[in-house]
Amino acid sequence: MSRRVHARRVEGVDKNIWVEFTQLAADYKVVNLGQGFPDFSPPKFVQDAFCEAVSGGCQMHQYTRGFGHPALVKILAKFYSRIVGHEIEPFEDILVTVGAYQALFCTFQALVDEGDEVIIVEPFFDCYQPMVKMAGGKAVYVPLRPRAEGSNVLSSGDWVLSAEELASKITPHTKAIVINTPNNPLGKVYKTEELQMIADLCIKHDLLCISDEVYEWLTYDGAKHVKIASLPGMWERTITIGSGGKTFSATGLKVGWAIGSGHIIKHLKTIHQNSVYHCATAAQEAVAHGFQREYEQFGSPESYFQQLPEKLQDKRKKLASCLESVGLQPIMPEGGYFMMADISSVTVDFSDPSTKDEPYDFRFVKWLIKEKGLATIPVSAFFSPEHSKDFEKYIRFCFVKEDSTLNAAEDILRKWSTRK
Ligand SMILES: Cc1ncc(COP(=O)(O)O)c(C=O)c1O
Repeated sequence: MSRRVHARRVEGVDKNIWVEFTQLAADYKVVNLGQGFPDFSPPKFVQDAFCEAVSGGCQMHQYTRGFGHPALVKILAKFYSRIVGHEIEPFEDILVTVGAYQALFCTFQALVDEGDEVIIVEPFFDCYQPMVKMAGGKAVYVPLRPRAEGSNVLSSGDWVLSAEELASKITPHTKAIVINTPNNPLGKVYKTEELQMIADLCIKHDLLCISDEVYEWLTYDGAKHVKIASLPGMWERTITIGSGGKTFSATGLKVGWAIGSGHIIKHLKTIHQNSVYHCATAAQEAVAHGFQREYEQFGSPESYFQQLPEKLQDKRKKLASCLESVGLQPIMPEGGYFMMADISSVTVDFSDPSTKDEPYDFRFVKWLIKEKGLATIPVSAFFSPEHSKDFEKYIRFCFVKEDSTLNAAEDILRKWSTRK
């Protein structure tokens, strides 16, 4: 074919960090603290619910309601009404999608027009940028910055958003602000005051807020996850994104959702019905059972939403002390299942000339994979081109792993540090 085959919208969005680094980790058979998924089983009640759904007769193998399996939207509405403090209408205010990823895609496609500007707080889950671009919009960035440059920044809570800087990015073309709390990769859990500052700007300038909350149950050391949709005046302008995979440590289920006022969600439904249309029935049934069980156990020690962060609390401490002991400076996350570490205190002699034009953290991570057998993710990938250079001295570790995996990673790091 001599004519151009591709559509213009695929230009400049072809590189994907997960494709590249997941393949590299597989090629080198490494200890994998890279991609964000647990290497332990989901809770038994979710596994059982999935098995029961699969063996539960004909209906579970057929199409269900396109915008979300009735059992799932009903329990999500019941569950989240209690948390948001607003009566959520199951058939109007919720769209079930193929993971949070598709909820994000539907959101950007449905709400961002040619020429619209979308403010993204950095560091950000990398897909926001290509999704905004594919919708015809322009991503505008504002970084969370370490509170006092140069001083010891020990916690994700030390990274803050400047109200002045955020306000300065708003123009007549701004349509939405995107936040992610708890944040991937930093682990920041936005405090109510910080969310209120963002909410005030959204209300003042009549903006939408897209709030990615896939790690909402994972907070540590007393940090509290607050939904921006629960702040006064925000329900009617917020789209909250969630993930059954992250919620129940079963990322392969790929069941996600967008929740918001029906007058917004109906546009996401239009994108969904004209693209994916429908998500796997049995997987939705399993997530529905999971939420039903959590609704009944909510606030009790039996609740998985309490048990998982308790389990991860120790893993997080273990990883942090290991990183410290080998001279890497971890930033303690208040939430989520990732930990960023500052690698500027270690020097590495890269021998691989094929990576010489790449950012420092990309070279470092490739070296760690190929030479030491440990996979992590470079953090500059979570920043815009204009700010990534400032954040090349960080890499991201995932700690939602079996202790044996974390021990294997620790062995690698300790051997390396004694040989330095
Ligand atoms: C912040 C964030 N949002 C969304 C997703 C996608 O979630 P899902 O697997 O449900 O599509 C991820 C996955 O890592 C994530 O980290």
